Amino acid sequence: MRDSFQREIDYMRVSVTDRCNLRCAYCMPKEGIEKKSHVDILRDEEIVDIIKTAAATGVRKIRLTGGEPLVRKGIFDLIKRIRAVEGIEELVLTTNGILLKGRAKELKAAGIDRVNLSVDSLEEKTYRQIVRQDAHLDVESLIRELKAASLTPIKLNCVLLKGLNDDEIGDFIDLAARHDITVRFIELMPFHHEGFRYETHFLAKDDVLREHPELVFVKKERIAEYYAIEGKKGKIGFIDPVSHKFCSFCNRIRLTADGHLKTCLLSDKEFLVKGLEKVALQKRFEEAIRTKPPEHALEKGRERQKRTMNRIGG
Ligand code: GTP
Ligand code: 5AD
Ligand code: SF4
Repeated sequence: MRDSFQREIDYMRVSVTDRCNLRCAYCMPKEGIEKKSHVDILRDEEIVDIIKTAAATGVRKIRLTGGEPLVRKGIFDLIKRIRAVEGIEELVLTTNGILLKGRAKELKAAGIDRVNLSVDSLEEKTYRQIVRQDAHLDVESLIRELKAASLTPIKLNCVLLKGLNDDEIGDFIDLAARHDITVRFIELMPFHHEGFRYETHFLAKDDVLREHPELVFVKKERIAEYYAIEGKKGKIGFIDPVSHKFCSFCNRIRLTADGHLKTCLLSDKEFLVKGLEKVALQKRFEEAIRTKPPEHALEKGRERQKRTMNRIGG
């Protein structure tokens, strides 16, 4: 279905849990989140029903997000059920990769086509500092495992964080070249948290490009701009919602784990769908898509958002 600005909405990001095994400084409070009772979170049947309605309104691609989607109990069974929904042509996943080790083949067999990895540092110490957990990720072996399971093409997302990972940008470019994958740098979006200052850590795409003349512009695709690495394999992407608006190409809606539709990541407007049955559900979908805002209003300044990022799914 098209929205009021003639954008075809064919992609739904489904957050299957607001819980996460990490505590990324820009994403959620250090002490974690107030645990939602399981009754507030959509059950598998509800998620599948909502995805069926989404498919009936024209959604063709589903991306599972979180929190961390792999911490949801029974996630593999849910994946199998979503895969079976008529009309869904692409089923993909965004994960921090911690729980993926040794399970890539199982994930592929359950029905996931490809995986985007969120990794903000390749240095053990910095990684732990950003995720604020005693966690370790062997990115190189994870990439090899994903390739062996044909969970490709691989995109690795890295949020640009001045003073934290800006000295590793060259290493991320090397990683993309060595493994022939895509690394995308994401501009930090202003979701505020105590003890983490957006203004201190924001780093713009253009500042990175100035430091890396080996990056050669190739093309623009919806939310990302892609660059080749001169003389090498691999691709570099930039997702820059803050310095450049790409909203006119937006084709997505979001379903939160507690059963609300969000038509813009950066807007607090939500449509409750939990508890609705067929006709009412379909109507709510149509209303949400029809009223999707034309663009975000970040430049007008933001108050604290109702939801932290872990409760939306990026
Ligand atoms: P592909 O299907 O591989 O193109 O992935 P994707 O970019 O749709 O999904 P992914 O989960 O990898 O998204 C990467 C990040 O881009 C998200 O976590 C957000 O931070 C950001 N992002 C994605 N969609 C939007 C959007 O509509 N608006 C804004 N402002 N940021 C977005
Ligand atoms: N700005 C930009 N990206 C963010 N993510 C989470 N919070 C933010 C933010 N404030 C990204 C994660 C991951 C995805 C799910 O969302 O790093 O790649
Ligand atoms: Fe977890 Fe993702 Fe938030 Fe990090 S960004 S705390 S990995 S939900």
